[in-house]
Amino acid sequence: MLSVKNLFVAYGQSEALHGISFDAANKETVAIMGRNGMGKTTLFKSLMGVLPTRSGSVTVAGQEISQDESFRRVAKGIAYVPQGRMIFPTLTVEENIQTGLENAKHRKIPEEIYALFPVLWDMRARKGGNLSGGQQQQLAIARALVTNPKVLLLDEPTEGIQPSIIKDIAKALNEIRKMREITIIVSEQVLSFALEVADRLFVIEGGRLVHETARADTDIAQIKQYLSV
Ligand SMILES: Nc1ncnc2c1ncn2[C@@H]1O[C@H](COP(=O)(O)OP(=O)(O)O)[C@@H](O)[C@H]1O
Ligand SMILES: [Mg+2]
Repeated sequence: MLSVKNLFVAYGQSEALHGISFDAANKETVAIMGRNGMGKTTLFKSLMGVLPTRSGSVTVAGQEISQDESFRRVAKGIAYVPQGRMIFPTLTVEENIQTGLENAKHRKIPEEIYALFPVLWDMRARKGGNLSGGQQQQLAIARALVTNPKVLLLDEPTEGIQPSIIKDIAKALNEIRKMREITIIVSEQVLSFALEVADRLFVIEGGRLVHETARADTDIAQIKQYLSV
């Protein structure tokens, strides 16, 4: 469903991703684990077209997207929940979700969204800025989901979120993959969360994927070693 081949990305003269390659299947969840500064956000921004790709290929369901503008990538089936959520604080919860429906035929929010995140129904008239971090994260996921993506990218969704809500988010991601034909790519530093949601785990270090493991075969000590400073 998602295929990334030999992706190189640079900030000016400074190369940040040095040839990233991986595939992810339909209904598969893949976690990209790595410490701060290792290239997770750069990878996701380049997959979304927020950062230009220097070279390499990215396909979604067989369609090349690496030279497209972001809105075209969304139309081809990729959606993004950025690090730090980036919801609109002065819009209501409902309006925030509707920003994901801008190019849709109907502005009505599908019921399944509120079924996944009941708290968003309760809060639908509140301003996004008045929600807790965990509620904002659920809102950002809802906004991405209404575009009906084939591939959903989540950049450190558990960052700064309390443990009980982290569990809710893991549950929601596992529900989403049951309900839909979707591939989920999540970047993380929290190993317990990654093990709850991901079929496979990668480790990114210095802009390169340096380790890959299936969930069942995960050497927890080894991954913790990668994640420790
Ligand atoms: N806007 C930028 N300009 C220059 N270098 C950047 C910029 N953003 C990130 N970098 C560098 O790219 C590397 C990867 O950063 P990033 O993708 O944000 O890592 P992560 O998300 O894993 O914490 C780091 O060395 C970081 O300093
Ligand atoms: Mg980051």
